[in-house]
Amino acid sequence: MKTKWNTKNIDSQKGRIILITGANSGLGLGTAKALAMKGAHIVLAVRNMDKGAFATKELLKEIPNAKVDLLKVDLSDLNSVRSFADRFKSKYDKLDVLINNAGVMMTEDRFQTMQGFEGHLGTNHLGHFVLTKELIDLIGETENSRIVTLSSVYAKMKPADIYWDDLQFEKKYNKEKAYAQSKLANMMFGVMLNKKLYESGSKTISILAHPGYTATNLQRHMGLIGKVMNFLIAQKIEMGILPVLRAATDVNVKGGEYYGPEKMSNWRGYPVINTLADKALDDNELKKLWKISEELTQTNF
Ligand SMILES: NC(=O)c1ccc[n+]([C@@H]2O[C@H](COP(=O)([O-])OP(=O)(O)OC[C@H]3O[C@@H](n4cnc5c(N)ncnc54)[C@H](OP(=O)(O)O)[C@@H]3O)[C@@H](O)[C@H]2O)c1
Repeated sequence: MKTKWNTKNIDSQKGRIILITGANSGLGLGTAKALAMKGAHIVLAVRNMDKGAFATKELLKEIPNAKVDLLKVDLSDLNSVRSFADRFKSKYDKLDVLINNAGVMMTEDRFQTMQGFEGHLGTNHLGHFVLTKELIDLIGETENSRIVTLSSVYAKMKPADIYWDDLQFEKKYNKEKAYAQSKLANMMFGVMLNKKLYESGSKTISILAHPGYTATNLQRHMGLIGKVMNFLIAQKIEMGILPVLRAATDVNVKGGEYYGPEKMSNWRGYPVINTLADKALDDNELKKLWKISEELTQTNF
């Protein structure tokens, strides 16, 4: 029988600094608690400080001796991302694990980020692209460091594509396509980042993870369908975070791997290696997305 990887498999994380975006809710908060429980120094990066303070209180109630800090970042504003990274670098002299977790899903109406990007692409992908770029030197200087980026089963489903002819959904907005594109972009970014790190001789690795289907605040824009699905098939947060935790802590994990649930077409179960989307295996597409991400964000990564 195969082992079912779970939190008992996590070694002590004492002395490690772990930064989690969108850590006030759902998977981000669950991940923060599990890693704090193992002794990691957690930095919760949130866009709303009231929600962040509430989450910090909840975490400390469960783990009174946790080492936890709270910092503000809005991933839908690249100025906020850059000033966050500056504050982070002035406060900490290393970063063991960056978990690119924050995300928005399927807003009914098209919205734009501060710099005018379509909201899903801008927040989920471009925000994390710039955040990672701004922190990469610090991460690279940290022994055994890694970057974990959250993708989704959506990245391999039918609506998932990089819509080159309407990347920002200006011609016609479709909420499913917009979310799926952003999660495919997350996956392609994580794969390309790992290649770049490897080619530059860095020991830092980039890993992808997804929680299958887990009931969180994410489904709030899905109305009744979301409620029914959450009731019928969703996993609990304690299960949904396992692929992220494995990607963040398992010493046997290799760069470029994608961790997600084992069962029900990767919607539920214990974390194992999942297959990547075809587009994430296509070098030309990876390079094209990287280039456009650099151009859009005026970043040289
Ligand atoms: N739940 C699932 O079944 C599922 C499946 C596949 C992938 N995922 C991925 O898992 C990740 C976490 O989602 P979740 O399910 O835990 O959802 P969640 O409970 O809604 O948490 C999302 C987090 O992202 C934060 N966030 C949203 N926009 C932000 C911004 N502009 N700047 C900073 N933070 C922002 C949210 O902050 P606020 O609380 O202020 O809104 C919240 O803390 C996402 O990347 C999602 O795509 C989830």
